[in-house]
Amino acid sequence: VTTRTPLIAGNWKMNLDHLQSVAFIQKLHWTLRDAKHDDAVEVAVFPPFTDLRTVQTLIDADRIPFALGAQDLSQHDSGAYTGEVSGAFLTKLRCRYVIVGHSERREYHAESDEVVASKVQAAIRNGLVPVICVGETAEDLEKHGASAVPVGQLQKALEGLPAGTEVVVAYEPVWAIGSGQAATPDQAQDVCAKLRGVVAEALGADAAAATRILYGGSVKAANIASFMREPDVDGALVGGASLLVDEFAAIVRYQK
Ligand code: G3P
Repeated sequence: VTTRTPLIAGNWKMNLDHLQSVAFIQKLHWTLRDAKHDDAVEVAVFPPFTDLRTVQTLIDADRIPFALGAQDLSQHDSGAYTGEVSGAFLTKLRCRYVIVGHSERREYHAESDEVVASKVQAAIRNGLVPVICVGETAEDLEKHGASAVPVGQLQKALEGLPAGTEVVVAYEPVWAIGSGQAATPDQAQDVCAKLRGVVAEALGADAAAATRILYGGSVKAANIASFMREPDVDGALVGGASLLVDEFAAIVRYQK
């Protein structure tokens, strides 16, 4: 069981347009309010860029206690970068978080460890907390075991950051994403503990003790509690199940 504030984060990926996002956020808010989830759990949503303004307005107007995050950002702060969105823009929309290095960006947009590191720096420079995603493919798992690749990815992402920097880490084994085949809680704990060691080396012992490390990959209401029982798993980054109001609400209420 975590000693940190648990974080349950919903990565919507390329789903829900800005109109659908209104209905979704309201329904999720009502569902969680009626069910009285533990206030100690932080809930964060990561809609597509085009929804952010709408969701931010709704969250502010109705005082909905969800943190807002984006799914990506540019390495640059402004300028001739057609199609890019800067960290400064996200901060203005009161985003607190931004996902960096998701395996879908690494795979479909050829984001290297260097690009990921520079996006982590752009996030921090603009006052955002990066949610740094790391994880091994099925092939990596077979060749190098579970932890070698995520450990290496995180070392590179944290290089050069000052001690004490606030980050969130998400361990997402690529083979578990969207496959219905989650890692076992033991596997997740083992890698998350090693990732905490990497944070300790890069950012210091205090930062390592405070950093939330999430598990992601086929998380659902039926398996969340088993992950949350582990000492080094501080929450979840949820994809598919974050698009289903009742299922996501049940994940947030995992302790009931
Ligand atoms: O970022 C979350 C994600 O990649 C996990 O997706 O659908 O397996 O929960 P899913």
